[in-house]
Amino acid sequence: MTASRDRQFHVQPEGRLTGRVRVPGDKSISHRAVMLGSITEGTTRVRGFLEGEDAMATLAAMRALGVRIDGPTAGELTIHGVGLHGLSEPARPLDLGNSGTSMRLFAGLLAGQPFPTEMRGDASLMRRPMRRVTDPLARMGASIHTTGNGTAPLRIEPVSGLQGLDYDMPVASAQVKSAVLLAGLYARGSTRVTEPAVTRDHTERMLAALGYPVNAADGVVGLQGGGRLNGGTIEVPADISSAAFFLVGASIAPGSELVLEEVGLNPSRTGVIEILRQMGASIEVEPLGDGDGEPVGRLTVRSADLQGIDIPRHLVPLAIDEFPAIFIAAACAHGETILSGAEELRVKESDRIAVMADGLTAMGIEVDTRPDGARIVGGRLRGAQVRAHGDHRVAMAFAMAGLAADGPLEISQCAEVDTSFPGFVAMAAQAGLGITDQDASHE
Ligand code: S3P
Repeated sequence: MTASRDRQFHVQPEGRLTGRVRVPGDKSISHRAVMLGSITEGTTRVRGFLEGEDAMATLAAMRALGVRIDGPTAGELTIHGVGLHGLSEPARPLDLGNSGTSMRLFAGLLAGQPFPTEMRGDASLMRRPMRRVTDPLARMGASIHTTGNGTAPLRIEPVSGLQGLDYDMPVASAQVKSAVLLAGLYARGSTRVTEPAVTRDHTERMLAALGYPVNAADGVVGLQGGGRLNGGTIEVPADISSAAFFLVGASIAPGSELVLEEVGLNPSRTGVIEILRQMGASIEVEPLGDGDGEPVGRLTVRSADLQGIDIPRHLVPLAIDEFPAIFIAAACAHGETILSGAEELRVKESDRIAVMADGLTAMGIEVDTRPDGARIVGGRLRGAQVRAHGDHRVAMAFAMAGLAADGPLEISQCAEVDTSFPGFVAMAAQAGLGITDQDASHE
């Protein structure tokens, strides 16, 4: 029998969140810092790097591609960039664990290299759709093989050169946009991506901060191949996607007042603040500047009476990773919350619509699901046993639900929390959540 890892969270009801926390570094920005830092000419220093499994998978892959990287030491990395053309063939397939961002962005970055690569991941990643990146990359001239279902392993064969592409993206996806732009660095001529809705723009911002000319306006991002990136310093803010659990927890637990320090407030990521405010949440934002192109601020959240809402569709891509937490807010709100236009949630680390609905139903909440969303009727949360299905954000969202439950909550399959939020249990306990965890792995 193969070893399977498991961790269970036990959450005692009641409690409130108080004090001050700085959640770990932004996952999206940490991936990009390693990838772009590696192809700069010169040295890039990264501070606030997320030492979670996903970003560490990107780091290990870059080392396997021949890049010398010192650290992480207390969130600091020194990357000895090899330039756009200095990567070398890895000795074995790249294992990207649970990380969809790593696999999709590497597909773009590696499509134009003069050597072959193979990429794999864990069971969840090997189920996730990859044609969304391999299709546009093939139109640029790349040769990437998937399984018949369009899933990993991805096998990239070297080609004689890539051609720039003008791509109208069918899905609002920052990973697809980034993959095409990264391939565009290696392509002849110009590459342009038009997005159907605003998606996170960390790739464009970081390229520009490292001296690579990028044009971005009105939902179109373009660049010319064949330029160069300069080494620099990258400060990674705290991850708003990790802060989101605390925003919801403090909102639903009476008597809470919590300060979240140095949170990244890129406008393509702040949909969760807007949605929670529309539900009646009390969240104060104090801007603290925008160092190298990524705005940062301090958030103060106090408990509030939440109301159900019809979530505006334009906010969905701006809060795409925060819906597990938002489902918990909706379950604790008065009245119904309606989510639509969110079919992408079905192809995340788990089918987040189904998995959140299952857990909330077990907790006594009425949830109707639809292909692209759900209707959640706020009510009294019961203590229960729920499963996180190996999805980090589902595990942390349910942990916060424990604050409003009328009995103990047991959450199984939580080991993947370390992919994005190492130290979650300790930080949440320090803020006042009655949480303990238990290793339930077996051989
Ligand atoms: C990410 C983009 C989003 C998000 C993911 C991280 C990124 O995915 O859900 O967690 O860093 O580019 P999509 O691009 O698939 O929407």
